[in-house]
Amino acid sequence: MNLPITRRNWLRTGALLTAGLTVNRSSFGGAALGSDVWNPVAANALHEQTLVNEFARLGEPMPQIKARIAFNENPHGLSPKAKEAIIKAVESGNRYAMFEGQELKKLIAEREGVKPENIMLSAGSSELLTAMAVYFAGSAAKGAGGTVLTSQFTYDDFLGCAKKFGAKVEAVPLTKEYRYDLAAMKAKITPDTKLVYICNPNNPTGTVIPAEELVAFSKEVSPKLPVFIDEAYIDFLKPEDRPALPKLVAEGHNLFLTRTFSKIHGFAGLRLGYAIGPEKFLKELQNYSRGEWNPSVTTLRAGIASYQDLEWQNFCRTENDKARDFLYKGLKDKGYEYVPSFANFVLFPIRMKPKTFEKEMFSNGILTSTREYNAQPYCRVSIGTQDEMGLFMDAFKKIV
Ligand SMILES: Cc1ncc(COP(=O)(O)O)c(C=O)c1O
Repeated sequence: MNLPITRRNWLRTGALLTAGLTVNRSSFGGAALGSDVWNPVAANALHEQTLVNEFARLGEPMPQIKARIAFNENPHGLSPKAKEAIIKAVESGNRYAMFEGQELKKLIAEREGVKPENIMLSAGSSELLTAMAVYFAGSAAKGAGGTVLTSQFTYDDFLGCAKKFGAKVEAVPLTKEYRYDLAAMKAKITPDTKLVYICNPNNPTGTVIPAEELVAFSKEVSPKLPVFIDEAYIDFLKPEDRPALPKLVAEGHNLFLTRTFSKIHGFAGLRLGYAIGPEKFLKELQNYSRGEWNPSVTTLRAGIASYQDLEWQNFCRTENDKARDFLYKGLKDKGYEYVPSFANFVLFPIRMKPKTFEKEMFSNGILTSTREYNAQPYCRVSIGTQDEMGLFMDAFKKIV
């Protein structure tokens, strides 16, 4: 089967691979790879197979992939403590998770200053985005349709899903600094507005809304409308720079935050995410998602270990900052501007058609991604290791 190279297909492959690790190694990983032993290198070979298929479909020779920097994954992998927890958890793979979810919720609640009842776990935060879309746009409980207010050039997973369930999306332009324009958004609130969706730090721009501004907006708007803030990349900000939004949840504001372990914790393939929100609302949302019963016992135990491993998180954040600075310098030296980023990816304008750029980079062994905004093409490159960013710059210099 030829699959187009979309993130979703990649993720699907990743999810299958993870399932292969704990559930059905012999029928997927083992048989396909011709080995009884799970081998992460061979797993990557399977990912590459997707690309081989795609290049074969296009009639192109398959390049050797040197850097996969397209999906904002963590290039440093899992915390050593999470790996240890996974190995131990293998023995429990035949049992449903029982207390692990409660334990993780307790840890998150303590750190964030909320109650465990304000936390809902999920198998990656995408599951929560879908549940939110179904709840707000598609459920009888809320009345179908309505308008979701957001910004242009943001993460469109939740928005796309809400549209499928009948919602309209009102998206205001970004500011000239590529930030969410909260004042313009406020001016667009009408009686039909059902929810506000904000992604902070924003994907794909990497920009953040100043913390005080976001807190003030949430305080002002949430008494009238639910405010949904997707904080998938929040861990790349130092704790002291993060907006104090969980505190607003604790105070009873109508605010819903989603977070993921896919980024700084490196769990993109393992799948773990969580929401912080009002207890009553989370109980209702449980009707649209299985919540903490969805992540596997393996993932939950690894999550508990990773969440407490602050040293690993600091290491990944510091390495990300260093590799990002290295990329900035390379782009600047080549006369390219970029949008200063607070996350593990950088957006910069390119002077080539997006698909041509992607394909040229791919032919040079670099898997990266592109976007268009206001007719301007951009590359959104994920931050890999410093070596990977070096390979990215080598390929970039070759093709531009
Ligand atoms: C802004 C944003 N939200 C949510 C997600 C979903 O991630 P996951 O389902 O892996 O938690 C992503 C993934 O890249 C993202 O960029």
